[in-house]
Amino acid sequence: SIVRRSSIAGVSYVSRRGFASGSAPERKVAVLGAAGGIGQPLSLLMKLNPLVSSLSLYDIAGTPGVAADVSHINTRSEVVGFAGEEQLGKALEGADIVIIPAGVPRKPGMTRDDLFNINAGIVKSLCTAIAKYCPNALVNMISNPVNSTVPIAAEVFKKAGTYDEKKLFGVTMLDVVRAKTFYAGKAEVNVAEVNLPVVGGHAGITILPLFSQATPKANLSNEEIVALTKRTQDGGTEVVEAKAGKGSATLSMAYAGAIFADACLKGLNGVPDVVECAFVQSNVTELPFFASKVRLGKNGVEEVLGLGPLNDYEKQGLEALKPELLSSIEKGIKFAKEN
Ligand code: NAI
Repeated sequence: SIVRRSSIAGVSYVSRRGFASGSAPERKVAVLGAAGGIGQPLSLLMKLNPLVSSLSLYDIAGTPGVAADVSHINTRSEVVGFAGEEQLGKALEGADIVIIPAGVPRKPGMTRDDLFNINAGIVKSLCTAIAKYCPNALVNMISNPVNSTVPIAAEVFKKAGTYDEKKLFGVTMLDVVRAKTFYAGKAEVNVAEVNLPVVGGHAGITILPLFSQATPKANLSNEEIVALTKRTQDGGTEVVEAKAGKGSATLSMAYAGAIFADACLKGLNGVPDVVECAFVQSNVTELPFFASKVRLGKNGVEEVLGLGPLNDYEKQGLEALKPELLSSIEKGIKFAKEN
């Protein structure tokens, strides 16, 4: 038989003609905020993923155009666009994974927390609908401030009686993507081979890359490690300033979001040893949510992995980030309880 090979993001997938997509189970992925700066390229990348059979693109407006456009690509998934709140239920029904890049992005001078007032409400209403229409879906939260929107989602799901801590993820993959790129540049190693965890949260100093655990090893000076750490923490701001008022990272975020969703899909499909960093409910520290390496499986989080050995600089960074991260978590919980 004729074997066709395609690959995205390092995933190799084999299908036999005549059994089109027969070897991968049906999987529906919904993107909420699909007409946005992240949403559009993310929808494109998810359309290229052969593990997806149904792609549901939702936004308050603009999705029919995005869906018509993306649907012409000759890959496996069926694409349907949904616009407006009255179509949200249909967009979500039967979803295995819901990716949420809905909400406003930063402008120069803004912190992620400055987005709280608008995005908290958006996330709350979208999660209320998820609890109703696809309570078993894995949720990949991209909307900022992630340090608060994930706790908001957890509270909404708890109120609805659908909360499963194994199924809620704050997407911190872009921090990992950036740390790998910046490390490879400084260490002069092949970027494709670089691996390292980024832990903590997703804002400023709460982003803690663990360069002491980076592979391939390199002999970087303390000054170089400090500079790499700062650049990783300020990577989002670097893009916000370069875009000069036109928003924040969209293309690299779409890539990172697509990689993370692909890892979730592989986990759901029973691929062993799928490990990525994400911001999840956690016992790794005393904080209720924390980003660290997570093993993904058929139910979402299979295991939250520990931090591994930290050097003194990283230990200091860990202690320094805890108060800010805790206060962002508590802000999210408080919002969800009061609204
Ligand atoms: P954007 O403004 O280009 O797109 C946002 C989209 O969300 C728009 O199409 C808008 O119509 C839609 N939207 C607004 N309210 C909605 C609702 N109630 N339901 C569905 N859709 C709704 O913004 P962009 O650049 O795509 O960023 C989106 C979010 O992602 C921002 O909060 C940003 O801060 C965050 N972000 C997160 C990153 C991460 O690493 N986790 C990295 C970069 C951005």
